[in-house]
Amino acid sequence: MRPDVLTAPDPGDVTTEAARRRAFAVISHPDAGKSTLTEALALHAHAIAEAGHVNGKSGRRHTVSDWMDMEKARGISITSASLQLTYRDTVLNLLDTPGHADFSEDTYRVLAAVDAAVMLIDAAKGLEPQTMKLFNVCKHRGIPIITVINKWDRPGREPLALMDEIAERTGLTPTPLTWPVGIAGDFRGVLDRSTGEYVRFTHTAGGARIAPEERLPATAALEREGQAWVDAAEEAELLTVAGANHDTETFLAGISTPVLFASAVRNFGVHALLDVLVDLAPTPGPRPTVTGGPRSVEDPFSAFVFKMQAGMDAAHRDRLAYVRICSGVFERGMVVTTARTGRPFATKYAQQAFGRDRHVVEHAYPGDVVGLVNASDLQVGDTLYAGPAVRFPPLPAFAPEHFTVARAVDAGRYKQFRRGIAQLDAEGVVQVLRSDLRGDQAPVLAAVGPMQFEVAQHRMATEFNAPIHLEPLGYTVAMRTTQTWVPVLEAERGTEVLRRDTGELLALFTDKWRLQTVQRQHPDADLTALVAA
Ligand code: G4P
Repeated sequence: MRPDVLTAPDPGDVTTEAARRRAFAVISHPDAGKSTLTEALALHAHAIAEAGHVNGKSGRRHTVSDWMDMEKARGISITSASLQLTYRDTVLNLLDTPGHADFSEDTYRVLAAVDAAVMLIDAAKGLEPQTMKLFNVCKHRGIPIITVINKWDRPGREPLALMDEIAERTGLTPTPLTWPVGIAGDFRGVLDRSTGEYVRFTHTAGGARIAPEERLPATAALEREGQAWVDAAEEAELLTVAGANHDTETFLAGISTPVLFASAVRNFGVHALLDVLVDLAPTPGPRPTVTGGPRSVEDPFSAFVFKMQAGMDAAHRDRLAYVRICSGVFERGMVVTTARTGRPFATKYAQQAFGRDRHVVEHAYPGDVVGLVNASDLQVGDTLYAGPAVRFPPLPAFAPEHFTVARAVDAGRYKQFRRGIAQLDAEGVVQVLRSDLRGDQAPVLAAVGPMQFEVAQHRMATEFNAPIHLEPLGYTVAMRTTQTWVPVLEAERGTEVLRRDTGELLALFTDKWRLQTVQRQHPDADLTALVAA
């Protein structure tokens, strides 16, 4: 690891610095082009020299955000990291989200740390299941959404049909900022609806370097593209008549979504997206707390842990806690308080990490993400603060749908087993549930996607030196309940109540019909749903 000091030693003014920040994530279904877009954004903001398509997944080199062995073996992105880009003097913090459907709990937590999301849609496939799930989490949290229709260089759907689908399925009003010239598969460029200009798409070899964008007035566009321009201009006019125009207030309220057309692989539309992030995406604002009024960005330092990561570097068994800064200035070395325990935490090593590259952070501001090293005392959801005590609301717990008993293969390694399980729980890799009946030697692991179990099993063996057996349980539904109802529920067939270390009680049911039967028999039973994944 080669630490590079990136930032200037003097802390800047927090109000100004916060106003220069945008924290966002890209949400999409696997294969819509998220990694490609991430690379293209990094390329355009000059964070990397060349977008690579050399080897790796289907002949493409691993993108900068892939690192774990398992990720490489599977060719997917499991872990989350953040990438900081500077564009037009604005600091863009792109929080990476794992795209695999089975590993979505992590992704949902990342969404707690962003102020906006880019919904990336494959032009041929439209809104796919994982996109809808992620969209629903954003909607639940009131996160404004920028829509990017990707792969416009390939045959796909009609743009108006895509707009209808977005409106019908998400309830958002699409307000295209650009409109494609040429049908999907014959992508010539876009009409910029704010200026009426034609932004012509120029090819580069393999899309590897920044494609130059040529802007032409409408008359020149007509001359050049003929009917394709006429069609685009007519459709753009239809949108104007229909009132599908960008409106800051409805966008920020999660009612409308600005739309861009792009080809990430050809690097087209990427500048437009960066401009939209700078010009339209919200800046970090006050955050609600459970200890008092909202914490404004000018208040003393506060942050919350939205992601824990371990085992990134086999040589250094380090734990990184990713925190999103909510207020004040972060200065490396400052001692902050962990709200859950009241204990001090020394931020001696703070890093910004993306892929294998890490940089030491000296200062950071609201909207930034920093990775705190040696964070074994921290848990996902923890609030850290300086000055007067503050606590942010807990991160939403997603309803697990998969349950398995974990046992140490070697009973003699119980100490390592216990330590490992506790760590995985703290990191939120899996939820750990227990009961007196099952005992501490056989905790139940619960997850939104079964791949979380594979990660747990892998890490127990390699990192904690305590290999585990998994014995899947037949439950698929978990509801919150209260102590009074435990004996009643446990008397029912196909039902069991387990507790988390936080004291929360979860009633597990084999399926939703079992749950409905129990609810019919005990209409007063205290059973509340967790956030659906
Ligand atoms: P993901 O992270 O969302 O899973 O998607 P990723 O970027 O890995 O892209 C999935 C596939 O879609 C890749 O093809 C990628 O090259 C392709 N792709 C991404 N953006 C575009 C685009 O704008 N136009 C076209 N035509 N394709 C795009 P692959 O088959 O996995 O790899 P490759 O061998 O084609 O590079």
